[in-house]
Amino acid sequence: MSEGSFPKAYKDGFKEFYGREFLVTRDVLIPRPETETIVEIVLSLAGVQYLPGVIVPRRVLPDRPRILDVGTGSGCVAVTLKLELPEASVAASDVSKPALDVAITNARKYGVDIDFFESNLLEDIHGDFDVVVANLPYVDKNWSWISGVEYEPNLALYAEDGGLGLIYRLLGQVKDRAKYLVIEADPVQHDKVKERAKSQGMRCLETRGYQILFSVLG
Ligand SMILES: C[S@@+](CC[C@H](N)C(=O)[O-])C[C@H]1O[C@@H](n2cnc3c(N)ncnc32)[C@H](O)[C@@H]1O
Repeated sequence: MSEGSFPKAYKDGFKEFYGREFLVTRDVLIPRPETETIVEIVLSLAGVQYLPGVIVPRRVLPDRPRILDVGTGSGCVAVTLKLELPEASVAASDVSKPALDVAITNARKYGVDIDFFESNLLEDIHGDFDVVVANLPYVDKNWSWISGVEYEPNLALYAEDGGLGLIYRLLGQVKDRAKYLVIEADPVQHDKVKERAKSQGMRCLETRGYQILFSVLG
């Protein structure tokens, strides 16, 4: 892995995501522009904004959708979804308590009400959701082409099993708990994620950039 310089976002203490500034510390991943597509996909499911070429042609979510953001980090996705869909009930979780503290600070900054859970994937989260979104760690430690991430938390970056260990576990947990699932993974991993999801009875509706949208119920 080649070394990069200390990230500007950590020096500044914030990073822009979906047009808003989010507090970031070294306990959280710096939000990436490709992750904004998660927000766009959920807004499309909610019928608020339609994406060109989107497979879901109409609103499929109820007026007050229940949304869960797993591995929320800075909270950028959860907070943005609550701001864009104020009627939604939004929950967010992370296995890292320091990361959750950053997410809670960002929720307070924007005055949004989000239920936060410290949980290993869905283990300590009860109930079901209309949509689960997850940008979990998916980097394989052996990827030599990844650079400039050495200042970010390992817990936010790496997973076993070619980077897909956590995503596979989530796919196993989400059945009967969600209607739609949006997963971020590197495009080189998408075929494997789709294959595993299919074996769990899920249907791939759309692939956009780094994101895959599944109908969990098939
Ligand atoms: C790639 S970062 C994404 C952060 C944020 N969602 C974003 O898009 O900027 C992954 C997050 O997942 C959390 N995480 C790692 N393992 C987890 C687990 N087993 N259960 C829940 N969260 C986990 C990390 O602490 C980290 O905050």
